[in-house]
Amino acid sequence: MAIDGPSGAGKSTVARLLAEQLGFAFLDTGAMYRAVTWHFLQEGCAPATCAGEPDRGAERMRRALATARLELSAGRVLLNGRDVTPHLRVREVESQVSMVSALPFVRTAMRDLQRAVAMQGPVVAEGRDMGSVVFPNARWKVYLDAAPSERARRRSRDFERQGRQVSTTDVLDEINVRDRLDSTRSDAPLRQAPDALYVDSTGLTTEAVVAVLLAYVRRGDAQRLRAAP
Ligand code: DC
Repeated sequence: MAIDGPSGAGKSTVARLLAEQLGFAFLDTGAMYRAVTWHFLQEGCAPATCAGEPDRGAERMRRALATARLELSAGRVLLNGRDVTPHLRVREVESQVSMVSALPFVRTAMRDLQRAVAMQGPVVAEGRDMGSVVFPNARWKVYLDAAPSERARRRSRDFERQGRQVSTTDVLDEINVRDRLDSTRSDAPLRQAPDALYVDSTGLTTEAVVAVLLAYVRRGDAQRLRAAP
């Protein structure tokens, strides 16, 4: 199952719960891009740091990527054997991840890894290009959306839970910037796949969204059974 949508639409929570209920693995592809961004920051070659270099740090980033071994297991992200999960939502990562995820060589590497994970068994994969690019033949595709103000409110609540005080206005500004970067990049921009189910989660609880998606999965199965000879 492929779930795409803008930041703060609730994809991760919904996808994790759905994967549990379906007995599928859960693949958070945003976490993969965040881990690569963190790695680049550690190596001193993140896009903002290298903006003044002739190739904007591309060669150094390529080399850093070649030495990055990513593993995802039980909701944790390991980078060269080290658990980097606690670092994925820090501000430095958040401010650079859209630039990193727009780099075609990063996307190609992540795409290969995402497909390799899905080869191992059924998966609920969430991100920006799951249904449109990485898994065009996914059995179920969902585009999960929500009003920007609601997405900003949810993100502010997440930050509060992490003990960070960020105003909803600032979060809304960041969300708007990220949405623009994610949907205007040339490689695999955020886009609804034509055959995806559109779900607007504004005003819906997580449980309600999961129920809508479970009904979609079951309906799809029933339609397939009816269509079978
Ligand atoms: O879903 P998230 O906020 O954790 O994603 C972090 C960033 O990674 C976001 O700016 C867009 C990018 N991303 C992407 O380009 N493609 C994906 N499949 C998943 C995330």
